[in-house]
Amino acid sequence: TTQRIAVIAGDGIGKEVVPAAIACLERIAELHTLDLRFTYFDWGSEYYLQHGRMMPVDGLEQLAAHQAIFLGAVGSPEVPDAESLWGLLIPIRREFQQYINLRPVKTLAGVASPLKAAQPIDLLIVRENNEGEYSEVGGRMYRGLPQETAVQETIFTRLGVSRVARYAASLAASRSGRLTSATKSNGIIHTMPFWDEIVAETARLYPEVSVTSELVDALAAHLVLKPWTFDVIVASNLLGDILSDLGSSVTGSIGLAPSANLNPEGEFPSLFEPVHGSAPDIAGKGLANPVGQIWSGAMMLEHLGHIEAATHLQSAFESALRDGLGTRDVGGPSSTAEFTSGVLSAIDTL
Ligand code: NAI
Ligand code: MG
Repeated sequence: TTQRIAVIAGDGIGKEVVPAAIACLERIAELHTLDLRFTYFDWGSEYYLQHGRMMPVDGLEQLAAHQAIFLGAVGSPEVPDAESLWGLLIPIRREFQQYINLRPVKTLAGVASPLKAAQPIDLLIVRENNEGEYSEVGGRMYRGLPQETAVQETIFTRLGVSRVARYAASLAASRSGRLTSATKSNGIIHTMPFWDEIVAETARLYPEVSVTSELVDALAAHLVLKPWTFDVIVASNLLGDILSDLGSSVTGSIGLAPSANLNPEGEFPSLFEPVHGSAPDIAGKGLANPVGQIWSGAMMLEHLGHIEAATHLQSAFESALRDGLGTRDVGGPSSTAEFTSGVLSAIDTL
């Protein structure tokens, strides 16, 4: 059966790493006789500069007709970041109830890391993706006056926290049974204790799971000093975002990190994108590491039910890295295109 995939390369290096990943996905689809149909949307900051919005008025309706969305990154120095994020990515995540942002962090052979971890890292960050600190509730008052004030409310709901906790606990149950919950209930005295209570309550439904609540400042330090001790980490929208850049950097580069924005019920399309942004500082130079994008493609294949194809793609980019073909950010010699050729050869030979 045909599976329709909406592709939004977006801005900056999104335009380099998305074509790289699509080339790999097309080769894999051919070898595994998958009928994947890619539809390309030119939405993003250039579209914004022309039309005054990041995507058309009926953008979400157009996307709803697809089984998955494959995104590069959005963001440009010419467009305020809040516009690019709230004009495209956040509406997609919310409209399609993609309440799980799953971000694997794993040691890969052939990657130079600034921190030599004593043991291999293999952990999953489960970030709440629909509510929390990313909220529209709040405002600005007394602009320009000495008493000028900004208020930004955090919203946690029982439904929102319990469903992300359930997902994370069941993931932990399928792995080591160890679940760490990022919190800050010593300083944030209303929302964070509520988060802690619901996570603890939910985890009790999984007797094989032991949950540890850890204050996020200490957790961040542990993630640097002994990252191999973690298995599944569940965190709110903001804390999960910060911890995932940290986690991927510990394994070598933010360019490696993939993510899935999941609607676990499958009622709406899920979205797959690397953790990194549009990296304007290196855009157009052939320096971008496409691993985060390719790995996100493997997560998409798995979500679409193509487990063997996903494993094949995963082994191929891991083998290209192991062979020392990585891009410069991981200490290798390759350009984006050279590394991608390496992955394509590995796909053919594995
Ligand atoms: P960034 O992730 O784009 O870049 C941070 C640093 O990592 C830069 O030095 C960059 O060169 C490097 N880097 C990122 N991806 C890389 C890759 N694949 N290979 C090699 N090096 C890589 O974050 P930054 O600079 O804070 O944001 C740039 C723009 O991207 C902003 O407009 C921001 O709003 C947007 N952004 C978009 C996201 C999305 O679309 N989901 C996520 C994060 C940021
Ligand atoms: Mg981020």
